[in-house]
Amino acid sequence: MSGSTAIDREFLDKHAESARRAEEAQTLFPGGVTHDARHFDPFGITVDRAVGAQKWDADGNEYIDYVMGHGALIFGHSHPYLVEAVTEQVARGTHMGGSSDLERRWALAIKRLVPSAEKVRFTSSGTEATMMAVRLARAATGRDRLLRLRHHFHGWNDSVFAAGRTSAGPIAANGQPTAMQELISVFDQTDVAGIAEAVETREYAAVILEPTGYSWGTCPLDPSVPKDLRELTERSGTMLIFDEVVTGFRASQGGVQERIGVTPDLTTLAKIAAGGLPGGAVVGRADLLDQISFDAGSGRVAHPGTFNANPLSAVAGERALRAIAEEDPLSIANARAAQLSKGLNRALLEAEAPGCAWADASMVHIVLGQDLDRPEDGVTWDWDEHGGPQATLPGTPSEIAWPFRRALINHGVDLMGMGALVSCVHTEDQIDATVDRFSAALSDLRRAEIL
Ligand SMILES: Cc1ncc(COP(=O)(O)O)c(C=O)c1O
Repeated sequence: MSGSTAIDREFLDKHAESARRAEEAQTLFPGGVTHDARHFDPFGITVDRAVGAQKWDADGNEYIDYVMGHGALIFGHSHPYLVEAVTEQVARGTHMGGSSDLERRWALAIKRLVPSAEKVRFTSSGTEATMMAVRLARAATGRDRLLRLRHHFHGWNDSVFAAGRTSAGPIAANGQPTAMQELISVFDQTDVAGIAEAVETREYAAVILEPTGYSWGTCPLDPSVPKDLRELTERSGTMLIFDEVVTGFRASQGGVQERIGVTPDLTTLAKIAAGGLPGGAVVGRADLLDQISFDAGSGRVAHPGTFNANPLSAVAGERALRAIAEEDPLSIANARAAQLSKGLNRALLEAEAPGCAWADASMVHIVLGQDLDRPEDGVTWDWDEHGGPQATLPGTPSEIAWPFRRALINHGVDLMGMGALVSCVHTEDQIDATVDRFSAALSDLRRAEIL
């Protein structure tokens, strides 16, 4: 941070307590943070408490929150459902050291919603879920190679990790064995012809993708691509893995697979699946999951894990998924996201600022400083308008993104990168307030001659 603009000075003035804590954090944590996406220039706010759609930092500043637990909190922070379920369970046992009714109820709640989920295996995170999905595909096919799409994110395990970019910034593969990197082929998300040629060699165990496009649809993917991939993988005996860690129970009740009518062989879930607590799952074809069974003989895939199906995650996950099935919170979250997207586009138009916003279900994306056409209805990404499916989308240049994020934080809005994950407890008034705060941030950028 240059520290020379009014935005920078306001940031330092408003966040003296966060600055003090960030200094200590630098002595405790590499880079002062505990997740790459929490790195912020000059330092991240220290969040003190959160409830509903709001949170407050160590300086007492209030925020309307769109990080929403990295997408895990479709019911907002500390929803009474989840507080009650988890509080009750803490007193009844936090680790049963054996099987429990809770894990069966949780699995049934997943099977009720996710079309491809014949069987379920719980993990402790999305990263573990993708690691297990790839291992199951390798074991079933006897093939080692993995095909993945550029910039798609599947966690940080060695089997799927590839250097590239996510909405949180560039990622390097240092420390990942070269032998693992060599097993991973990366294709552009629109290169169906290239992928077809590759999978027809029958060398690939699986194709894995985020089915809305990379970084939860930051670059939207036309549904025809996952549909084509389903056909291609089926023909070549390659497993198709949908990574629905973010989109599961958000893109629709049954995820992207339900929305576009494609049944993957395996699906990875986490975040909302565990009610916003730590937890994940790999679900899919029974014959693939049954490789973990003790009846699988010499073909068995081992899977320990101290916190698999942890009781607290199980009760939170079951309660969240029951509410998603029975109360339709997604319609509310989607309507609020559409309201937000329309408002942001209106604010950009009024400010005569280059950029646009669009929403897919409750996921809102913002690009500033690029001449991308704004959606005609203020919400829907228009394939024709943008020349069809894109391999990559020009993102917000970092010399605009950082001051913009600082300005928004000054005005009390916290985004997930350049996007917003909207919950069903964001109110219409909070969305209107967000648009006002966004307009104020745009004015700050204009005054500082940044946009
Ligand atoms: C699509 C996707 N897959 C996998 C993961 C990894 O999940 P976790 O952070 O729970 O390990 C993430 C995390 O953000 C994700 O967005």
